[in-house]
Amino acid sequence: MSEEKSYHMTPEAFRRYGRAVVDWIADYYDRIESLPVLSRLKPGQVRAALPSGPPVKGESFEKILKDIDEVILPGVTHWQSPNFFAYFPANASGPSILGDLLSSGFGVQGMLWTTSPACTELETHVLDWLVDMLGLPAKFKSSETGGGVLQDTASSASLCALLAARERATGYQCNEKGCVERLIAYASNQAHSSIEKGVKIAGIGRKNLRLIDVDDGFAMRPDALAQQIRQDREAGRTPFFVCATVGTTSSNAIDPLPAIGEICRKEGLWLHVDAAMSGTAAVCPEFRHIHEGMELANSYCFNPHKWMFTNFDCDCFYVADRKVLIQTLSVLPEYLRNKATESGAVIDYRDWHIPLGRRFRALKLWFVIRHYGVEGLQYHVRRHVELAQEFASWVEESDHFELATKPPLNLVCFRHQGGDEFNKRLMDRLNRSGDLYLTHTTLSNRFTLRFCVGQTNTEARHVAQAWRRIREAAAKLESE
Ligand SMILES: Cc1ncc(COP(=O)(O)O)c(C=O)c1O
Repeated sequence: MSEEKSYHMTPEAFRRYGRAVVDWIADYYDRIESLPVLSRLKPGQVRAALPSGPPVKGESFEKILKDIDEVILPGVTHWQSPNFFAYFPANASGPSILGDLLSSGFGVQGMLWTTSPACTELETHVLDWLVDMLGLPAKFKSSETGGGVLQDTASSASLCALLAARERATGYQCNEKGCVERLIAYASNQAHSSIEKGVKIAGIGRKNLRLIDVDDGFAMRPDALAQQIRQDREAGRTPFFVCATVGTTSSNAIDPLPAIGEICRKEGLWLHVDAAMSGTAAVCPEFRHIHEGMELANSYCFNPHKWMFTNFDCDCFYVADRKVLIQTLSVLPEYLRNKATESGAVIDYRDWHIPLGRRFRALKLWFVIRHYGVEGLQYHVRRHVELAQEFASWVEESDHFELATKPPLNLVCFRHQGGDEFNKRLMDRLNRSGDLYLTHTTLSNRFTLRFCVGQTNTEARHVAQAWRRIREAAAKLESE
């Protein structure tokens, strides 16, 4: 034992409190269904319960944990409740939480292969596995021209795709001189807002993002895309990038990749595919049609942190030609030079994303894949889709509710026939009840409820109970 004065937690205390925290989490999952899904706190309530300044003297861990119960827990919206049907899920699981804990325990920073070979090689390996697991084209594998990398989010992945596409289109001159050409990007008017954000950050300019019309099923219209590209070329602008979405946020629409990809190939445009939530569905062979046309894509991303039972944050980003991405993002200062990099035999993931530093994210994803196996992942994804489709059939059979669009996978968009105001009040009432949490969107200018089945522990009884609650709340509102 060291004689030096220290404020650090001793290994013995770490062991004791570590067990207490794991127990706390296990108890939390045991009782999560008894907690209101959407936090009921008012703005400022969490801060009001905290001291105005930090403690000068360290506090006991017991006291800290007590505040988790008393101050933090009431201010948590329970994304891991099986009654969470809002947005898209950010689902967690036991193996993933433990993998994340180990990642914290190692505390490695894997910016270079040499700063932790396992951090890089496990990531490369797991991302190659996923190419096969999702039936993606082999060109996305590290053994071919491309490769995959873990990013924090789909927003970052799409930004990297935009940057690589920008540099490819300008012969890497934007990186050198700044953008002089009028580059034009395309996505459907249903694409996620992260594309607009990416276009702003990448210096393309929001006015140079064309939001293409969609068809009756809210998927991008390839004819409208082709026409817009033609108009832009005629006006002397430089089309360079198309983002197609597999599973839009509003309605889960799936853009027609084969036709969009063909246009991109002919026009020499970079095709990026954003499958943030729905990509996971392709783990089941019967849903792999969502990736049809992917051989025409230059890049692809999906989020295991949405539907593959892997804790936030975890996005898999693939490129078909890694050289373009690396040339776009690489900067090599003297202090990062090392023999392994110079040998050319290793991957340095710092060149594959925006930040330099990176944590050991692959551990949690590896734990998930090994714990569930492909079979386990398929079982739960398939079950979620079945439950969502069953919910959709109840909506269809109901006299008071209707589907806003046919659900392709696990997101049901529906509404009560009572109109926008009625649906808003219905949603607020349901969410206030704490029994479930669902959110909304606008489709065809009408307020639409979204019900997404994707939380790790959601079972048939939760979906059935939600439908009961929705009908009861609507009946009450009708009678008021
Ligand atoms: C289709 C789509 N793309 C991108 C995103 C952004 O995801 P992230 O939070 O990983 O940036 C979302 C989020 O729901 C999404 O639905």
